[in-house]
Amino acid sequence: MSPIVLPNNALVLLVGISGAGKTTFAAAHFAAFETLSSDTCRALVADDENDQSANRAAFEVLHLILHERLRRGRFTVVDATNLHSQARQTLRGLASRWRIPVHVIVLNPGWAVCEERWRTRTDRHFERKVLQRQQDALRSTLEQLPNESYEAVTVLDSAASIAAATIVRR
Ligand code: UTP
Ligand code: MG
Repeated sequence: MSPIVLPNNALVLLVGISGAGKTTFAAAHFAAFETLSSDTCRALVADDENDQSANRAAFEVLHLILHERLRRGRFTVVDATNLHSQARQTLRGLASRWRIPVHVIVLNPGWAVCEERWRTRTDRHFERKVLQRQQDALRSTLEQLPNESYEAVTVLDSAASIAAATIVRR
């Protein structure tokens, strides 16, 4: 598989349902401060990365830091589900203000893998129907992405392709 090529000033949006491996992928491929995670931002404002009541504040914090990083031309990855077109549009808007290219990497190891992780993880406590709704949103997202304007969209659609992915920065 050819490497995913990312420019040094890119904004990278990871896309995937809970358990897809976004945080694991980010830790493997990107430096700590390059990744802005919605979970981390929820924890920063509410001491609990699962506290959905902190969503609005968490994303305000994420957008504020993202804006500053993009203004400085710092390579940045957004580790959030990014399954809603409005959320992606907001991120694209921030990038376009500074003429930053936006790259999307979809992580989709498949429903069975994500459901198994949802069942066995101890750090996530939400109902199965929430995961199913995310899976539906992923289907819509995969249809919508070609019509949104990105520099490139990479879809890794198996656990093997996610594990084998390599990234080249230039
Ligand atoms: P992640 O925590 O990386 O998933 O992996 P995620 O997409 O970021 O999930 P959310 O949206 O924050 O909920 C989920 C679980 O799967 C394991 C991780 O160790 C973690 O417990 N995992 C991930 C693997 O076992 N193998 C992988 O290749 C990736
Ligand atoms: Mg995560």
